[in-house]
Amino acid sequence: MQICVIGAGYVGLVTATCFAEMGNQVSCVERDPFRLARLAHGQVPLYEPGLEPMLQAHLASGQLSFMARVEEGVAEADIVFIAVGTPSGEDGSADLSHVLAVADELGASLRRPCLVVDKSTVPVGTAERVAQRINAGLAARGLGFRVQVASNPEFLKEGSAIDDFMRPDRVIIGCDDADASEQLRRLYAPFLRNHERLLSMGVRAAEFTKYAANAFLATKISFMNEMAGICARLGVDIEDVRRGVGSDKRIGTHFIYAGCGYGGSCFPKDVRALIRTAEQEGMEPGILRAVEARNALQKTLLFQALREHFSGFLQGRVVTLWGLSFKPGTDDLREAPSLVLLEALLQAGARVQAHDPAANAGVAARYPKAVESGQLRLLDSPYGAAEGADALVLVTEWKQFRQPNFERIRGLMRMPVIFDGRNLYEPAQLVEAGFLYRGIGRPASGHCKATAA
Ligand code: UDX
Repeated sequence: MQICVIGAGYVGLVTATCFAEMGNQVSCVERDPFRLARLAHGQVPLYEPGLEPMLQAHLASGQLSFMARVEEGVAEADIVFIAVGTPSGEDGSADLSHVLAVADELGASLRRPCLVVDKSTVPVGTAERVAQRINAGLAARGLGFRVQVASNPEFLKEGSAIDDFMRPDRVIIGCDDADASEQLRRLYAPFLRNHERLLSMGVRAAEFTKYAANAFLATKISFMNEMAGICARLGVDIEDVRRGVGSDKRIGTHFIYAGCGYGGSCFPKDVRALIRTAEQEGMEPGILRAVEARNALQKTLLFQALREHFSGFLQGRVVTLWGLSFKPGTDDLREAPSLVLLEALLQAGARVQAHDPAANAGVAARYPKAVESGQLRLLDSPYGAAEGADALVLVTEWKQFRQPNFERIRGLMRMPVIFDGRNLYEPAQLVEAGFLYRGIGRPASGHCKATAA
């Protein structure tokens, strides 16, 4: 099929490249000239394992191409995907200005019938608004055809987006027209071994499903974070509890890891947008509010624990941060718990030595003054970051941090203290290695003996 994807952001690029991988002819429209120039040379302006080589291969074969103008991108398209951003507006609702601007452009540039699909996460009713805008444009140009707009939300996880797209848990097609629905079913058929994982529904239900799925996952995390808070007070290890409850098939083992809070481009934004939707409908979304409040609190816990450890005096203390991105496998810093901690530490006068396998540059760009003054140092190795530290905080559980040489770290640090924001380590092993260990929702263990004066 001839596919056009509008927006070469995270979702758009993965979508365009994976459709090309399945043999479709894909044109991808990107209006930022700098981004476009890089893409045209096969450079992917974001960190996603496996994406760049795949994109380069299809660029070279001509299966995938990039252009600036919507008119050019949609010229031959059977299906047009809208994959532009829907950031949080000031009141928390999804800002649809980019999506609606694309709708206007489509109304002004389509020359032949095609199916338009919202890939962006958008509130219920957006597909209808997009259809109205496009069709008004077509009518104004005196054209005799009208388009259908379907919803096909994406469920990609950063860091495993290619795999998620190529082997999806499910594909949701929201469409009020049988022919259009069949066209999308055919497009996705090669990605699904059987069609049981393809769910067809009305367009509004599909739009809502995306929000409900993300809000439910965020709820699981916030629930476990609250359980961790209770565990900590009772001297119970949340990790035992996690294994215990997760073994019940009805609960499941995924997304029940307590930690220093969820971040990223989806959960925080989508929970907020759903709260706003409920309010607009005159309903009090008590559960969603609690999910959000618990997450905001959770992001402050590591700093609180550090402050307590240093009896309120952080001035001049050297604190090591391992992991800055909002989760492993990405350089994405959006709503990352690390930033809440980092800002509080800088504010309190601590000296921060951080290492992230992918996000160092992003953090340096956000805090140029702290970098310039030397209060924040971004280091190339986890060991370099631990040198002379009074405490080490594991914020993001990159694989590289799983089995470090603790003996070496203890030798490097001034005080052997580890705050484990993801409960990655075995407390007994760290105590054995001479560390004081603090996790999230776990009893404190070990003693703090200074290795140097
Ligand atoms: C999420 C959804 O999973 C995906 O389906 C949707 O399309 C986009 O949003 P993503 O934002 O890439 O994907 O990250 P995800 O892997 O879901 O993690 C989100 C956050 O939750 C991270 O900050 C992670 O550290 C945190 N998390 C996850 C926990 O704190 N505990 C867990 O058990 C799982």
